[in-house]
Amino acid sequence: MKTNQESGFLKIKGGTPLKGKVKVQGSKNAALPVMAAALLLDNGEVHLRNVPKLLDVQTMSDLLVSLGAVVKRDDHTMTIEIEGEPAWETPSSLVRKMRASSLVLGPLLARCGRVILPLPGGCAIGSRPMDLHFKGLSKMGAQIELDKGAVIARADKLVGARIYLDFPSVGATENLLMAAVLAKGETLIENAAREPEIDNLVRALKSMGAAIEGEGTGILRVRGQKELNPATIDIIPDRIEAATYLLAGAITRGDITVKGVVAEHLNALLAKLDEAGIEVINKENELRVNSPARPRGLTVKTMPYPGFSTDLQPQMMALLSLAEGTSVIYETIFESRFLHASELQKMGAQIELQGNTAIIHGQSSLIGAEVYATDLRGGAALVLAGLAAEGETVVYDVHHLDRGYENMAEKLILLGAEVCEGKDNIKARKQ
Ligand code: UD1
Repeated sequence: MKTNQESGFLKIKGGTPLKGKVKVQGSKNAALPVMAAALLLDNGEVHLRNVPKLLDVQTMSDLLVSLGAVVKRDDHTMTIEIEGEPAWETPSSLVRKMRASSLVLGPLLARCGRVILPLPGGCAIGSRPMDLHFKGLSKMGAQIELDKGAVIARADKLVGARIYLDFPSVGATENLLMAAVLAKGETLIENAAREPEIDNLVRALKSMGAAIEGEGTGILRVRGQKELNPATIDIIPDRIEAATYLLAGAITRGDITVKGVVAEHLNALLAKLDEAGIEVINKENELRVNSPARPRGLTVKTMPYPGFSTDLQPQMMALLSLAEGTSVIYETIFESRFLHASELQKMGAQIELQGNTAIIHGQSSLIGAEVYATDLRGGAALVLAGLAAEGETVVYDVHHLDRGYENMAEKLILLGAEVCEGKDNIKARKQ
């Protein structure tokens, strides 16, 4: 696995319809909060299965180790053990690497009664505040201060509270859930996020002995416990990775079967593909896209789950650049999540941006170009565009892809793509 400093590039010769089967990895966004939840346990181990091998997972593991955890990995399983009380001061070098580092806030506050958390980093997709996390924790009795770019949170004992989220934030729901399971009394989280990754966390916490009701609904009721117990937890399949490969099949007009998916998690995407005239066959845990025809233009609006995921908006934009007619994408979740649009334009895509709306005039072809991944899913969109484009595309800064896609180049090659990985980004740019 590459580190952030070792950025590389992917060289893609486009135009080959991808064919074959690909197995989906465990979900990044489900694994990260469940790893953070291991901090809640004061005795014994949390054993995780189906953990993807990704840079973000490694960053969370490094963060847990820096807080005193012993983390053991064996292929796709992981064991996490915290001996005694974890440290409560989190190192900014790790926290700034990834926004999901903020997921240790709730568990550390519940275990240690105090936390110092530098404001986290992550993908370059907007300001991404944490006010909802802080408001909820304050309702549970925490004192929150901001000092020199860090959050200092204190609570002698968290107490159950009724919390209404102004927006169903995924991270805030996860942090508050983890804080609530060890709080005194009952917590009600209203307008909670309903993403499948939240359900995975709820199931994980329940298997550790937490008392939570309302799984899968927007209202979570948590009865705080004195302590939790060791458990074995399965991570759900990664719906965003699965969708990215389905879109790779669609954009190259190929025939790809994605194995090991939960199709229900992809309902919004499947509805939109159907509207675009792209056939997807759902058989048991497999989805097969077989789409020789050019897609039709669409309107897509990103929404909290079960709406269309913002994490698929860039990849969808790549597909729609090649659709027949005009498409419109409304990005309602994040500001500035169109950084990939200007890179797609270098490949001949006709995209007009008006605030958080993108108008895409579909073209019959894209042309290979040198482009830069600016974030994880935007990078995936450029790879998809490169797979469909005429000639050669070089996608630089592909370390962003390592944050969320396990062996992407290998998987694409197995599907027949002409892709090669290069290590030295800077040298390649100069050539
Ligand atoms: C998670 C996912 C990310 C996905 C996003 C939305 C993980 C590790 N990451 O991110 O891949 O794109 O959900 O599905 O699971 N907001 C506030 N105040 C807050 C918190 C959030 O205004 O306190 C805003 C954010 O700026 C953003 C929106 O709410 O505009 C959604 O954020 P949120 O649901 O919290 O996303 P993350 O948990 O960061």
